[in-house]
Amino acid sequence: MKNKSLLSINDYSKEEHIQILDHAEKFEKKPIQNLLNGYVIATLFFEPSTRTRLSFESAISRLGGRVIGFADSSSSSVSKGETLKDTILTVSNYADLIVMRHPKEGSARYASEVSPVPIINAGDGANQHPTQCLLDMYSIRKTQGTLNDIKIAFVGDLKYGRTVHSLVIALCNFNTEFHFVSPPSLKLPNSIKRHIKKNNLSFQEYYELDNILPIADIIYMTRIQQERFSDPIEYERVKNVYKLTPDLIENTKENMKIMHPLPRVNEIVESVDESSKAYYFTQALNGVYVRQALLTSILGKI
Ligand code: CP
Repeated sequence: MKNKSLLSINDYSKEEHIQILDHAEKFEKKPIQNLLNGYVIATLFFEPSTRTRLSFESAISRLGGRVIGFADSSSSSVSKGETLKDTILTVSNYADLIVMRHPKEGSARYASEVSPVPIINAGDGANQHPTQCLLDMYSIRKTQGTLNDIKIAFVGDLKYGRTVHSLVIALCNFNTEFHFVSPPSLKLPNSIKRHIKKNNLSFQEYYELDNILPIADIIYMTRIQQERFSDPIEYERVKNVYKLTPDLIENTKENMKIMHPLPRVNEIVESVDESSKAYYFTQALNGVYVRQALLTSILGKI
């Protein structure tokens, strides 16, 4: 993985995914290590973020590295019309690795084509979010003891949900049973369904949430993302379609866990947070260990 950009979850093999998770386990046991002393890492966020940016920055700080960058591109020369290419060429003079989030699909791959330093895609539009995928895999393995033969229900915006796209692709390596719950207008893209079929796996699609809950090992909730809709009327139609409540999770498996990449809006009511099945905040914590593993692997420090 040394010097290898991570743009899509497919860029790394199943074995490399597992290697990252194994390294992350070690960082969870010992998060403070001076492995990135002398390294500078740039975090360029052209789109809002709380977890991804701050967990990367926390991971870097706990490894003794330094962070430069911006959380809002309006404070950079992008606001004066600077191109993505010129921004990347400039920042690569100052940093050993660039973590980038951008609203345009394919922007991370484009950045990697012009960058002399590795790029980590921290989310490109509705396309991919590979580091979230790795922390999701870590969370599933940690809570279920395995990644094999998991029954997972993805719920909400499966059309624009980049975390869903990356995770479905990665879980195709592990004999997963997929259940997709969404409004008709927000179904999983056909390209990802074809990927599932190519791996000789099956999936089922639903509109209603209720029937799938008792059989799932993982319920992966997602937000209906207002910012991805070009038609505000269509957003109004679907924005409140799913709401997970304590009643709904009563008859679920004992070890079932509720995951969510966050932020949530109203798709999980706050009283669910009290349940031992609510895993989303620990899931966000796992992001620090996984990103520590990823950064040190790409920079050749483990
Ligand atoms: N999960 C996730 O990408 O969260 P942020 O948008 O807060 O980074």
